[in-house]
Amino acid sequence: MHLKTPAGLSRKEAELWATLDPKRLPHHIAIIMDGNGRWARRRHLPRIAGHRAGAQAVRSTTETAARIGIPSLTLYAFSTENWLKRPPTEVNFLMALLKRYLKQEVPTLNNNNIRLEYIGRKHELPEDVQERMQWAQDATSGNTGMRLTLALNYSARAELVDAFNSLVHAAAQNGGVGHLKVDEDAIARHLYTCQLPDPDLVIRTSGEMRLSNFLLWQLAYAEIYVTPTLWPDFRGTHLLEAIHEYQKRERRYGGLGSDNGHNAG
Ligand code: FPP
Repeated sequence: MHLKTPAGLSRKEAELWATLDPKRLPHHIAIIMDGNGRWARRRHLPRIAGHRAGAQAVRSTTETAARIGIPSLTLYAFSTENWLKRPPTEVNFLMALLKRYLKQEVPTLNNNNIRLEYIGRKHELPEDVQERMQWAQDATSGNTGMRLTLALNYSARAELVDAFNSLVHAAAQNGGVGHLKVDEDAIARHLYTCQLPDPDLVIRTSGEMRLSNFLLWQLAYAEIYVTPTLWPDFRGTHLLEAIHEYQKRERRYGGLGSDNGHNAG
C-alpha cells in the first residue's frame, strides 16, 4: 500500500510521488547543478540572470526533497575551479547571491526542519561570506529533518588531500606515523562528509556526462542520472522523475545481478 501523499506537494509532484515506492527512497542525493549560463544565453540574458534563476531551482528542489523525506541532499554550488575560470565580476555576483540566498532561506529551512551544512575549503572564501554561512548553519542547527549540504569552494581531489593530511596529523598526535593504519574506514572518517552516508543517487543537469571532481570517493556505487534540463528549469517534479528512474535500476555494489552476472558492475 502506498503511504499518504506528503503535505505541500503540487498536483504534478503528487502524481509523480504516487509512482514511487516510499520504502526505497534514496538516503542521500547529490546534485551537480549545471547549465545556468546556457539558460541565460538562450534568453539573451547575462550569465548572472542564470545564476539568479538557479537559486530558485535550489529552493524548489530542496523543499520537495525535505517534504518527501529524503534524509540528505548535497548540492555542488561552487567548485574550486570556478574561481579560476570565471571572470571576477561573475564570482563576486555568485558570492553576493549566496549571501542573499542564505539570509532569505533560513526561515524556509526552519519551516521545513532542514539543517544546513557545508563541505569544501570554507576558510578560503571571503570573510563576510564565511560569517553569513556560519550564521545560517547556527540558525538551523537545531533542526532534525533533512541535512542540506552545500559544496562551496569544493573539489574532491582537494578533499582527499585534506583527508590524508588530517590522517597523518592525527597519527602524529597519537603515537607517531609509524602506527598509522590506513584503510577505507579511516579515509572515510577524515573526509568532509564523515557524518553523511554515501550518496545513492547523483543527478547532473544540462546533459554533461562528467563528475567534474565532485565526491569522487563517495560516489563509488551511486546511480548516475543525467538530465538535459538546465539547472534553472529544474524543480521538485524533476527530482521526483530522477527518483523514479533510480527505483527502476538494480543496484549491485559489484556483486552479481539477478541475470546471474551478465552485465554485472
Ligand atoms: C553552473 O552553471 C552552476 C554554477 C556555477 C553554480 C551554481 C549556482 C547556483 C545554482 C546559484 C545559486 C546557488 C546557491 C546555493 C544560492 P554554469 O554557469 O556552469 O552554466 P553553463 O555551463 O551553462 O555555463
